[in-house]
Amino acid sequence: MANVPTPHISAQLGDFAETVLMPGDPLRSKFIAENFLEDAVLVNNVRGVQGYTGTYKGKRVSVMASGMGMPAIGIYAHELFNFYDVKNIIRVGTAGGLTTDVKVRDVVMGQAAVTNSNWAAQYGTGDVKIPAIASFDLLKKAEAAAKEIGVEPNIGLIFSSDVFYDGNTDYDKLRDLGVMATEMESAALYMEATRAGKNALCICTISDHLVTGEVTTPEERQNTFTTMMKIALETAIAE
Ligand code: HPA
Repeated sequence: MANVPTPHISAQLGDFAETVLMPGDPLRSKFIAENFLEDAVLVNNVRGVQGYTGTYKGKRVSVMASGMGMPAIGIYAHELFNFYDVKNIIRVGTAGGLTTDVKVRDVVMGQAAVTNSNWAAQYGTGDVKIPAIASFDLLKKAEAAAKEIGVEPNIGLIFSSDVFYDGNTDYDKLRDLGVMATEMESAALYMEATRAGKNALCICTISDHLVTGEVTTPEERQNTFTTMMKIALETAIAE
């Protein structure tokens, strides 16, 4: 296909598995490949955005970093879905807790994302905005995978923000609407999936909390990360 390699991904068609796990951090991508996949091969390293394909329990799975924010994940998701025949992208990231129902170290699955991003405007549907929703199929599989290892996931609305150091957002209003957590990538990922007729899901662990001020230690982040990865990998290979 003439579209590959792309300006941002040097891989050839067929180098990626059907399902790509996406942490934000390129070093996390390497860590996942080295610690969770077998026979992992580097398939992309443009701008240090490391992508690997290997196997988990005998099935092909890829992992590639997204970078931070919606413009970054939007580029990678668009190219993977539209030019590399990738069917599923599962974001594995961290989020800040917004409601007190959600505690640090909890696993959150974004059933849908609210956003302050104007991402949907590009699709030309005017006042009718494409919603940012997760794949029902991936969500069902992820919930089952979590329960299998004794984790009760928080499933619901998350806030995908364009701004980390945010002087404007009224978090109380979002809390009143039941928005559980804040992160910076899911809305663009979900809309790109809808646009391409593909599937996406965001699984996050709560690394800090905007109400309680709690933060996780590096060791806790590593442990919760391992739990989240097991859920994501089992979701990736579930039939
Ligand atoms: N805001 C946005 N993204 C995040 C946060 C946060 O507080 N914590 C982890 N990812």
